[in-house]
Amino acid sequence: MNNSINEFGSAPHLVELNSIGDSSEGYITVAEAEKSIPYVIKRIYWTYYTPQNVIRGHHAHKELKQVIFAVSGIIKFTLENHLGEKQEFTLDKPNKGLYIPPFTWREINFSHNAVLICFASEWYSEEDYIRDYNSFRNGN
Ligand code: TYD
Repeated sequence: MNNSINEFGSAPHLVELNSIGDSSEGYITVAEAEKSIPYVIKRIYWTYYTPQNVIRGHHAHKELKQVIFAVSGIIKFTLENHLGEKQEFTLDKPNKGLYIPPFTWREINFSHNAVLICFASEWYSEEDYIRDYNSFRNGN
């Protein structure tokens, strides 16, 4: 458990937040800006009802930092850095998050009941997206 991270750095990684409670009464998990989420949260979005056979993502961001949770279901990420190095991460419990730094290409697959919630460091801007894979790999 690590709820006092101030700087997540430049590598993607899993983040486990405290799960408060027990199986007899249920659980609560808390995300706090500038504490367990190591930046000011400017935007929160969530996705749902994604068909299981769909891969979403196919983009990277220039500045955006994200911490993402599967509050329900299972979400699998294939992340790739600009060198083409790939890493896979699975969110399979509601207190397990994934930190995604800028310049990370992502492909995301959802179980049928998955709900993804994202705590984002920036407001939405299409200018921040890199949607062309070759541009991403070429760094432009
Ligand atoms: P996108 O980030 O491409 O989703 P995914 O990678 O999961 O496929 O966003 C999908 C659409 O939603 C796209 O048209 C942009 C829009 N959108 C917003 O308008 N605001 C937002 O904050 C986000 C995340 C997406």
